Amino acid sequence: MNTIEQFNEHIMGSYGRYDLVLEKGEGRTATAEDGKTYIDFGSGIGTNSLGYCNDKWVEAICAQAHNIQHTSNYYYTKVQADFAKKLCESAGYSKMFFGNSGAEANECAIKIARKYSFDKYGKDAERNIIVTLKNSFHGRTVTTLSATGQDVFHNYFFPFTPGFVNTEANNIDDLKKVLAENKGKVCAVMFEFIQGEGGVISLDHEYVNAIFEECAKDDILTIADEVQSGVGRTGSLLTSEQYGVKPDITTLAKGLAGGVPIGVCLATEKCADVLTPGTHGSTFGGNPIACAGGNAVLDTVLEEGFLDTVVQKGYYFWQKLNEMPEVEHVDGLGLMIGVKLKSKDAHDVAKACLDNGLLILTAKEKLRFLPPLNITYEEIDKGLAILAEVLK
Ligand SMILES: Cc1ncc(COP(=O)(O)O)c(C=O)c1O
Repeated sequence: MNTIEQFNEHIMGSYGRYDLVLEKGEGRTATAEDGKTYIDFGSGIGTNSLGYCNDKWVEAICAQAHNIQHTSNYYYTKVQADFAKKLCESAGYSKMFFGNSGAEANECAIKIARKYSFDKYGKDAERNIIVTLKNSFHGRTVTTLSATGQDVFHNYFFPFTPGFVNTEANNIDDLKKVLAENKGKVCAVMFEFIQGEGGVISLDHEYVNAIFEECAKDDILTIADEVQSGVGRTGSLLTSEQYGVKPDITTLAKGLAGGVPIGVCLATEKCADVLTPGTHGSTFGGNPIACAGGNAVLDTVLEEGFLDTVVQKGYYFWQKLNEMPEVEHVDGLGLMIGVKLKSKDAHDVAKACLDNGLLILTAKEKLRFLPPLNITYEEIDKGLAILAEVLK
């Protein structure tokens, strides 16, 4: 039995997969079981932020595994404390909670938002609605699916968690209308600055400003889901910096620990102490190995000039992509890029790229690029040459 047959016999079929068995990786190149190599423009959906098996990252993870690999959250570890200090101080947040995924980070944000209103306004106020945007994506747990503003996800698993109301992204009038219809009942507005799974669609600056203005009027918390857009992906540590706003809560995951599971929920002083002993927890949350990986990622991303290189490489991608005749439109920021094609099907193109040695993602009807943040210009050229050939 080959790997794929063995795999399918024992692992549930919840994913559509390519017929590709990856065995190892080095830098921005993955190698399959049959020895074929692939340039990686997807980095495990924006997760291997420093590429495969980066030296500093491997060293940090291995050293931590030799020291202490896990302890319960009844105790403290220095590696957690160091990582949390580094992240909170560099991101400008007071405190954080550790989970293991984007969905968990968002679950935490949702709990904080509801408890913030519960504590302040009382149970009878029923101030528990969270407004989310149409076409958003916030995770696969029942509650984060409920938060996700795409009907296609609201199937099979009934009943979904109540208390989520959607508004049209980039439509200020609709935002105002939804807030007015639910006046006194909304505890938070939750959004992605760039809707990643929704097709790499950026929110307008004017719209983001309107969210913050409207929320400020009624003590409504702002929750930025930066699970995909955060940790240097768009050219700043947080994308909120480029929008010039400060969400009350920001969630991060994916690239934060460079390829080991992590998810964090960052809170400003206003809601940093909402969670009290017993109100939230996670066995693996703050796992020392994940924190060691996170320290290695942050040390690299925060190095002088590193984020500028992400911006520059992003421009380079945009320039090169716009020169391709089949490309209709490029969207995104930094190294989070979506490409609408004129006539070809993005999924067919992604498959053809794979056949020719390039791993590339799709999002809705677009091609999606989330390469490792330290990809070289030579590797960008090599990958784009494969794409150009496929698009001919
Ligand atoms: C914006 C956003 N939020 C949440 C999630 C869920 O993250 P995870 O799969 O780690 O639970 C994703 C995953 O794609 C995402 O892009």
